[in-house]
Amino acid sequence: MEKGLFITFEGTDGCGKTTQINKVKSFLTSKGYEVVVTREPGALDIGQKIRDILLHHEGTISDKCEMFLFLADRSQHVDTFIKPYLEAGKIVLCDRYTDSTIAYQGFGRERDINLLKELNDIATGKLMPDLTFLYDVSIETAQKRLGDERDRMESIGTDFDLKVRNGYKRLSEENPDRIKMINAEQSIEKVYEDTISIISKLLDKRSNK
Ligand SMILES: Nc1ncnc2c1ncn2[C@@H]1O[C@H](COP(=O)(O)OP(=O)(O)OP(=O)(O)O)[C@@H](O)[C@H]1O
Ligand SMILES: [Mg+2]
Repeated sequence: MEKGLFITFEGTDGCGKTTQINKVKSFLTSKGYEVVVTREPGALDIGQKIRDILLHHEGTISDKCEMFLFLADRSQHVDTFIKPYLEAGKIVLCDRYTDSTIAYQGFGRERDINLLKELNDIATGKLMPDLTFLYDVSIETAQKRLGDERDRMESIGTDFDLKVRNGYKRLSEENPDRIKMINAEQSIEKVYEDTISIISKLLDKRSNK
């Protein structure tokens, strides 16, 4: 593979992103690909400090501060981790990326979506995923899966979660080639089958180029 492949995993908390990313990693590794798994916020040293503030800070964080913290984490992550691995030809699987900013800070917090797109472009140098999975689940299912333990972003409330879920759906409708929505109410195995079928098509297309 002369250029790496960048795949992101999106959806509301508890939709199954981490479960699927781990299964996809095993699948791709077994096929002989070199794969790295990463996440936002907080993949790197500096990012872990930012993650800790974003998810566990007990005082008030203004919406604008929250937005810049997510973007600051992303810019460091892209420059020092994602881009170098892609340039080395690896497959990078990333748990949350730019679509999370649009869904949570844009649709959820109701900040200006065009402005967020511009800020995402600055943070990433316009590096976009080749493919994005959106795992769609109802708020009730997500809450059941999450159990009682909630971080700061998971504790905002049901109205917010609903706005985020609908925002994600809009994003997938607006970007049908990149964002593939999968019904994540299905069993882990069925969601995985749907995911692998899409990845396999992309890999076939690339190897036939
Ligand atoms: N399709 C599924 N059916 C039933 N349970 C599932 C399914 N997918 C994941 N789960 C379970 O739901 C819980 C949350 O899954 P997971 O951690 O993968 O979600 P997540 O999207 O990564 O959540 P978070 O955003 O909080 O990191 C886990 O206990 C997992 O085993
Ligand atoms: Mg997770």
